[in-house]
Amino acid sequence: NVLILDFGSQYTQLIARRVRELNIFCEIFPYNHFPEDLSSYKAVILSGSPFSVRAEDAPHPDLTNIRGKLPLLAVCYGAQYLSHFSGGEVAPSNIREYGRANLSYIKEGEVFFDSIEKNSQVWMSHSDTIKTLPTNGVRLASTKDVENAAYRIDGELTYAIQFHPEVYHTTGGKQLLENFLVKIAEVPQSFTPNAFVDDIIVELQEKIQNDKVVLGLSGGVDSTVAAVLLHKAIGKNLYCIFVNNGLLRKNEFQNVLEQYKDMGLNVKGVDASERFLSQLAGVDDPETKRKIIGRVFIEVFDDEATSIEDVKWLAQGTIYPDVIESVSVKGPSATIKSHHNVGGLPDYMKLKIVEPLRMLFKDEVRRVGATLGIDAELLGRHPFPGPGLSIRILGDLTPEKVRILQEVDAIFIDGLKSHGLYDKVWQAGAILLPVNSVGVMGDERTYEKVVALRAVESTDGMTADWVHLPYEFLMTISNEIINKVKGVNRVVYDISSKPPATIEWE
Ligand code: XMP
Repeated sequence: NVLILDFGSQYTQLIARRVRELNIFCEIFPYNHFPEDLSSYKAVILSGSPFSVRAEDAPHPDLTNIRGKLPLLAVCYGAQYLSHFSGGEVAPSNIREYGRANLSYIKEGEVFFDSIEKNSQVWMSHSDTIKTLPTNGVRLASTKDVENAAYRIDGELTYAIQFHPEVYHTTGGKQLLENFLVKIAEVPQSFTPNAFVDDIIVELQEKIQNDKVVLGLSGGVDSTVAAVLLHKAIGKNLYCIFVNNGLLRKNEFQNVLEQYKDMGLNVKGVDASERFLSQLAGVDDPETKRKIIGRVFIEVFDDEATSIEDVKWLAQGTIYPDVIESVSVKGPSATIKSHHNVGGLPDYMKLKIVEPLRMLFKDEVRRVGATLGIDAELLGRHPFPGPGLSIRILGDLTPEKVRILQEVDAIFIDGLKSHGLYDKVWQAGAILLPVNSVGVMGDERTYEKVVALRAVESTDGMTADWVHLPYEFLMTISNEIINKVKGVNRVVYDISSKPPATIEWE
């Protein structure tokens, strides 16, 4: 188990992902809120930070329980921090040190740099530089502009690097982390999807015992994997509820419900389409639409959950990025975001929360899902927003608009699949615009709806770019939509990136 102390760097989560790729479990803690008992940790990594160590309000945690006691790797800010407070000198650098650099010097015979070639590329991002090493510091590597690009401290398992091993552009980054964690710190590489499944099942059984658990399935990857894990752990005591809000994709409710049943899950499908759509009638403000959907969902879910006698737990598909967030570097106290996919259950239910995936990243959830034998197609599904098609129908909703958009969306998504493009796209969908445009059919002019198609590539939805789908494909899909979907006479393709646009239109 590895502890990562976060000083607020945008790359901290990436460090965790790289460590996990080595099959080593790690946890991120804010630099000012980490556990006192470090006996279960085998190594510590200090992250970068937007601060200068010389700034008065910069993070200056007490590392006496860590340094010299556990193997320590200090990255960027961490490296400067160790130097600044232990007899070295950190000063503003004369040249900007951002982007690519090469390790022009690597000290020979150092395990830390095993299998890393001289001139290997590294990624720098800092404005201060380490002028002199801390007491007992031994220089391990330099670049053209950065003399102290890496050092260690004699007599300790303390290593420090100015560059970022976690970013893709540092070509030897993963090797370096492996050298430190596996060869130097001797951390076992035992965190595999299989091991996770075995451990979490025992943990869930001990925690839940013979209690009943209720879980809301959404058709998405996270809630599905959470359900299958719990099902393995507690069997029939898991009660799943899958709500149709009338805003799902075409035939999605029936298809996914069947799939869930085939997987052996104890699932109840609740078709509340009319309840949602009647509450949404005439509402055109996007945030109000979201709020209504959230409220009605909780009402429907509560009705179902309260009908399960003696239910004690609410299970959620919360994943690690929802649990952690880079520490707030503005305030003195670190803030951690807590996020719930299903929030706001009334107090009288007094349900305890269980979140089997709260320590996993999305790609790990997929791998765990594969280990559990969940269908690859289900695991590879694009993300789909909770409020569903409602935020892709701009303005107010009617059953007719939902029908039109479901038809258009189905043609687009099926087309992506049959042309082998679905897995190359992170998320795709269609948007129904609140305008009629003129068209001509036979001798008559028509005034019918415009739909936009959107397909983006992204890793986390925070930034995204439009996908350059082939013209031939767009032509085929456009023809099919206009020929088959009554009420649509024009198709456009969205070529905006995020930022400044967003993925959804509302
Ligand atoms: P935006 O439009 O903000 O979307 O670029 C980023 C990602 O978030 C999804 N999204 C939502 N998901 N409830 C959700 O559960 C929402 O209200 C919501 N709004 C956007 C969107 O589909 C994309 O994956």
